[in-house]
Amino acid sequence: MLRRTFIRLVANTIVLALLSAKAGASGYAKRYAFQHGVASGDPLADGIMLWTRISGAYGEKVSVVWEVARDAGMQSLLLAGHLETDESIDYTVKVDVRRLPADTRLYYRFTVGDIQSPVGMTRTLPVGSVDLARFAVVSCSNYPAGFFYAYREVAQRDDLNAVIHLGDYIYEYGAGQYATERAEELGRQPDPPTELLTLGDYRKRHAQYKSDRDSQAMHRAHPVIAIWDDHEIANEGWKDGADNHGNDSDRDEGLWQDRRDAAMQAYFEWMPIRGEANGSRTRIFRAFQFGDLLNLILLDTRFYSRERQPDISATDGTRGGIEAELNKVKRRMLGRRQERWLRKRLKRSTMTWNALAQQVLVSPIRTPDLEPILDLEKPSMVRREVLERNIGLSKGNPPLLLDTWDGYPWARQRLLRDIKRYGGNTVVLSGDLHTPLAGNLNLAGEKEAVAVEFMTGSVTSPGFAEYLPERKPGMVRDATLELNPNLRYMETDHRGWLCITFTHAECIGEWHLVDSVRAADYASKIDKRLAVDAGNIAAGLYEAADLTT
Ligand SMILES: [Fe+2]
Repeated sequence: MLRRTFIRLVANTIVLALLSAKAGASGYAKRYAFQHGVASGDPLADGIMLWTRISGAYGEKVSVVWEVARDAGMQSLLLAGHLETDESIDYTVKVDVRRLPADTRLYYRFTVGDIQSPVGMTRTLPVGSVDLARFAVVSCSNYPAGFFYAYREVAQRDDLNAVIHLGDYIYEYGAGQYATERAEELGRQPDPPTELLTLGDYRKRHAQYKSDRDSQAMHRAHPVIAIWDDHEIANEGWKDGADNHGNDSDRDEGLWQDRRDAAMQAYFEWMPIRGEANGSRTRIFRAFQFGDLLNLILLDTRFYSRERQPDISATDGTRGGIEAELNKVKRRMLGRRQERWLRKRLKRSTMTWNALAQQVLVSPIRTPDLEPILDLEKPSMVRREVLERNIGLSKGNPPLLLDTWDGYPWARQRLLRDIKRYGGNTVVLSGDLHTPLAGNLNLAGEKEAVAVEFMTGSVTSPGFAEYLPERKPGMVRDATLELNPNLRYMETDHRGWLCITFTHAECIGEWHLVDSVRAADYASKIDKRLAVDAGNIAAGLYEAADLTT
């Protein structure tokens, strides 16, 4: 084994020397650069995906060397190799490195000619008996909306196994559209300036997001396990379309399938995710095992099989009318195949915890009466007539967030039934709503929790406080919590991230909030800590003491 490793290292050293000599001799490498940093993702016990992108190449093939070492100085080399990239994959570079040691902090870098990338840090999965696993959970990083301070904080942590990104890693909007109001003054206007439609558009947007310093720092510091939400393609997407597709009166947005395929291709090129885009059959649902402690299961509630969201305008707008529409059709969220896959995963799991990391809110939320809460004279991101319509709809306290599992009550009941039957200790992680939130999940008609939900806030995307002009700050939050006793925490006014820690005894969620995403600097605080005990999920969430582990 030792001899084989030695031979491999000698061979790799020769490859490195040859490649460097070739590049150096021609001198062509001088104009290349690593402008989008490095990234790693989808860790296994013996493997990791490494990512980078070469800038400055036009038409030619480029040879890139990769190296993995035990030290940041890249002296204690473990593995190395080389591969070619070209314009067919936008000069992105992805390597699925295997034969690595488990539960090990590793360092990696890329070289093209005599140009070297920054050194990235990553970590393989632990095996066997594992005492603790800790993650940063992030979602909704909207570049024009503000600075990625949450990413900056996450980058500074040295106690994480990985970052879990629940989607809306990019947003598809152009200048003047959603959440771009302050983009110019922040120097963060969307590039390209128009809404994304083509492969070139989506690639350019990914490039812009990965030019961000804080994003680069986060990727350099941790492996990322990512799933997409809607905005990686288009707002409120489902398997055959999106709310933000085909509705622009002044622009032909083309076929949904073409747009979806372009967006998915760019995503797989630009993210350190295993696998490949394959149209409607593209699978991002997958699982990662952390020894005997945690079965981390990632789902696609967005584009794999989700049926179209219910249309509230087709109802009479009363609570009864809306609920009748919700219960009329058995709308699927995961689809048969993904449901079967999940059920099998849960049945087979022997780990203390199952974590279902997915996009949208699972907890049911009835909307409080907005009339006494809102002041329509105050500024809002939402048009006045939309606010007036929502005030009208809120009278009977119906569910109104129908892009979440609230629009799919039949599918939610099936999910929770499977969790109850097979899930043991299950927590659900979610994002999408730009709202730090937590709740106990129970089957309709039952009181005891079968799982709990931890929802991360947004990195920058605006929250309820910016949509709904409250008479006094906190009124929407307070009224929502009062009307929905299953919810244990909600924060409507701040951006941030969720730190989640698993031990064999408990699972603790800790919400970190930043005070601004638009000021030149920021302060952060821990706003809430909630925990649930292994073996006592039925009791639900409780206030946790300080993290001591
Ligand atoms: Fe979002």
